[in-house]
Amino acid sequence: MKAKEILKNMKPYQPGKGIEEVKKEYGLDRIVKLASNENPFGFSEQVKKELPALISQLEIYPDGYAAMVRKKVASFIQADENQLIFGNGSDEVVQIICRTFLEPGANTVMATPTFPQYKHNALIEGAEIREVPLMDGHHDLEGMLDQIDEQTRVLWLCTPNNPTGVHINDKALADVLGKVPDHVLVVIDEAYYEYMDAADAFDSIAALKEYQNLIVLRTFSKAYGLAGLRIGYGVAHPDVIRVLEPAREPFNTSTVAQAAAIIALDDQPFIDHSVEQNKKNKERLFQFCDEHGISYFDSQANFVLIHLPMSGDEMFQHLLTKGFIVRSGEALGLPNTIRLTIGRTEDMERIQEEMKQKISEGAQ
Ligand SMILES: Cc1ncc(COP(=O)(O)O)c(C=O)c1O
Repeated sequence: MKAKEILKNMKPYQPGKGIEEVKKEYGLDRIVKLASNENPFGFSEQVKKELPALISQLEIYPDGYAAMVRKKVASFIQADENQLIFGNGSDEVVQIICRTFLEPGANTVMATPTFPQYKHNALIEGAEIREVPLMDGHHDLEGMLDQIDEQTRVLWLCTPNNPTGVHINDKALADVLGKVPDHVLVVIDEAYYEYMDAADAFDSIAALKEYQNLIVLRTFSKAYGLAGLRIGYGVAHPDVIRVLEPAREPFNTSTVAQAAAIIALDDQPFIDHSVEQNKKNKERLFQFCDEHGISYFDSQANFVLIHLPMSGDEMFQHLLTKGFIVRSGEALGLPNTIRLTIGRTEDMERIQEEMKQKISEGAQ
């Protein structure tokens, strides 16, 4: 057997520690997972109520065209139905983009650190990866533009960026779109779109009218709380969708995921509540950090990257023993940091107390 050479040196995606695993390891009853930027308030009660009815026809393949959810999303974001492609999570849309545009001899430009699946999928396609370090948590857009040449196929912009939570403002995004050559597809990954409230947030859907080399990614996994069902989508010019579609598996989003997404979109009060609570608890975390001299990135998402007076792994381990799963920044090349998903008020109060304890122990 001979696998692609590149795969020999690649590792599978390392998910955050699982709840059951941590419970068993530390003899704890309750675990709070703040590691994967899921919605701590769950998902729409409406979806929960209608779920039993959604599983009635599992012997039938899903609608490969995802017609109903397509119609719903198109009207919700005010785009045309032929501007959409659905994926088994936006992860899969990232994979489809790489399958479509990348190959040996081509290159792709992205920030570092950013969402790791861009690089992972691009490597599998044999493309050259051009990573441009963030500058104080922000994309170095000029640096990224400098990396573009005739062989560049895809430019990845993650806003707000995972893991820093920092967004790219409207002026900067308009400027970069104006400068990127037409032969490069620009991906604006807005997985945390619903949480953004900056006055200078970019209207990426409106920009699609102007730019044909743009695709915007959104997901039902974060604010909508449907990470377990796996459904996300891309919005682009119909010509871009047309070239992507053959690289998509025919029945890639499940019947249940498609139906749940429709119901979830109708329950905007749930989104409003989640976003409001996230904002409140994020501001409290910022306040806590300010009070304890901890620096952090000004996040527009539902997670915050904070700087500690100790290694991220040490804080991660301490919090784990107390029943909190977070992400250490060490593996991301961000020493002395952790990335913390914003949780429920009571859990945030507890985790802040635990962090305070650990930091004061370290100072003694
Ligand atoms: C920036 C970003 N994009 C895409 C994804 C993938 O999300 P999903 O595949 O669940 O839609 C994530 C998940 O963590 C993310 O942080």
